[in-house]
Amino acid sequence: MKEIEKDSIIIEIKDNAGGIPEEILPRIFEPYFTTKDEGRGTGLGLYITHTIITKHLKGKIKVENESFEYEGTKYVGAKFSITLPLILSVNDN
Ligand SMILES: Nc1ncnc2c1ncn2[C@@H]1O[C@H](COP(=O)(O)OP(=O)(O)OP(=O)(O)O)[C@@H](O)[C@H]1O
Ligand SMILES: [Mg+2]
Repeated sequence: MKEIEKDSIIIEIKDNAGGIPEEILPRIFEPYFTTKDEGRGTGLGLYITHTIITKHLKGKIKVENESFEYEGTKYVGAKFSITLPLILSVNDN
């Protein structure tokens, strides 16, 4: 959990795998878009993630590449930021 701000929560997930090439960034949430070898990736992982977050949870997901330092070593990776609305449920019982 990164932070809670008013009526939404922001979750950030990042890795140190080198980042996503700029030229494919606009396509990574498309269904069946994959750079993996045939038979190794479906290209559905991020499409399904995007659908669940935007359509079902009414949130947002964005991605950017980021350089960072961890315990004295520099890394580059992809950072996904997920914003989810906080919904208060009211129980009538
Ligand atoms: N963390 C990441 N770092 C670098 N590239 C990524 C990252 N996540 C996704 N990508 C790129 O986006 C493409 C689409 O990702 P997605 O998860 O939708 O499919 P996939 O990983 O190829 O296959 P599968 O859905 O079966 O896991 C990947 O093939 C890869 O090129
Ligand atoms: Mg995947």
